[in-house]
Amino acid sequence: MENRDVDELLTAADELAKGRLSERRYAHTVRVAETAEYLAELHRLDPSRARLAALIHDAAREMKKDEYLRLAEEWKIPFGEFERGNPKLLHGPVAAEMARRSLGVEDGEVLDAVREHTVGRAGMGDISLVLYLADKIEPERDYPSVEKIRSMARDDLRSATAEAVERAIAYSEMRGKAVHPASREMLNWLENPDGRPHERM
Ligand SMILES: [Fe+2]
Ligand SMILES: [Fe+2]
Repeated sequence: MENRDVDELLTAADELAKGRLSERRYAHTVRVAETAEYLAELHRLDPSRARLAALIHDAAREMKKDEYLRLAEEWKIPFGEFERGNPKLLHGPVAAEMARRSLGVEDGEVLDAVREHTVGRAGMGDISLVLYLADKIEPERDYPSVEKIRSMARDDLRSATAEAVERAIAYSEMRGKAVHPASREMLNWLENPDGRPHERM
């Protein structure tokens, strides 16, 4: 892609997020974009693609529950029973489709990163790992293990993501919330990248 095209796309993605989100959530988006860009540079990935995914990631976060289901059905976004019970989980897949339709984003890895940023996926690509982590460690995030995850993220994306997803699962369990099967599959995959996925007890 030409540099000019990249800049135009980044500006359009920024406007999409700004136009659809409250000030508070737009500010989060900007911090995730900065963090994603930083992580991408550190790990020799394309910072513009990481930034683009981050600017889009929460663009659909402020919609009504039934709107998610309606759009997912209209746009033929596949989803399961888990999402039907928790329609907000569709904000990633809906944002990806929105960016594809309204901004013309065609980069599959960028779209996957947006789709997967909430519950993750076994086998996710590097841009996905960067966005997943950036969302969890942007500067305003504050929870007991955040410094540990921040420092791990500087060394190794996979082990930092494993730590982050493990913490997310433990946090959901502590609050008595169901954990999406994709998150457990993702953790298995991060812990045994070459092995066959095994059942967790
Ligand atoms: Fe999100
Ligand atoms: Fe986010």
